[in-house]
Amino acid sequence: MKIHVLETPASASIFVARILAAQVQKKNGSVLGLATGGTMPPVYEELLSIARKQRISLTDISTFNLDEYIGLSPEHPQSYSRFMRHHLFDRIDCDRSRLAVPRGDSRDPDAEAQRYEAAIKQSGGIDLQLLGLGANGHIGFNEPGASFSSRTRVETLSEDTRLANARFFAHGEIVPSEAITMGIGTILEARSIVLLAAGESKAPAVRAMIEGPITPDCPASVLQKHPNVAVVLDAAAAALLSPSESITHHGVTPAQPEPTNAS
Ligand code: F6R
Repeated sequence: MKIHVLETPASASIFVARILAAQVQKKNGSVLGLATGGTMPPVYEELLSIARKQRISLTDISTFNLDEYIGLSPEHPQSYSRFMRHHLFDRIDCDRSRLAVPRGDSRDPDAEAQRYEAAIKQSGGIDLQLLGLGANGHIGFNEPGASFSSRTRVETLSEDTRLANARFFAHGEIVPSEAITMGIGTILEARSIVLLAAGESKAPAVRAMIEGPITPDCPASVLQKHPNVAVVLDAAAAALLSPSESITHHGVTPAQPEPTNAS
């Protein structure tokens, strides 16, 4: 794992957007795995800005989002499908059929999960997977206890996660109790991974992910086994880490990240 610590959430987002842009530039037709959540809008905003300024075309990318709530149609304001359209998909000139989010309103979520897993395989696999981090250590919606070999499937959300995500829903609206999520095994097949976490609420999970044992109690700890992971943190999220050679501290203006090893 390479760990990059930026001073602010904004500079951490810029750093991650540069990694995404470098991947798109490096390989025509890159397949990106994407994430939602409160941490991600600045990343997509910055990616669009870099693409505009550096004339990087996003037309040929394919994308697969990590997850979607079961029971929400793509039009629901809190669906991840709508999130992605708002923050990225509606703003790029790319064939919609290549921008995939699991269908949360499918009549058969198990079949939808299998279809999604097969579609990822058929694309040739993910070149670069973007991840956020749950305060309970989840990646995608793989909650503590999830199997490291799990594939895309229906997962029951923990009470912690439903509580954390209630902030995105209207007052009194019920947060769905299930989601379709890429499995941990699915995520680990990505050729490279970049995880972004910001804020002090993530600091204990960041420490467990990087310094703790590899255990399903902290799903993100499995990333220690992946050969090509960049963890990008703001100072608050990194606050509980012990000094280590694998940590690079960046100044206010982040350096240009090295491209990932994904082809
Ligand atoms: C979202 C996802 C989740 C989030 C995580 C952090 O697609 O897969 O794992 O990345 O819950 O969410 P925020 O950024 O809201 O703290």
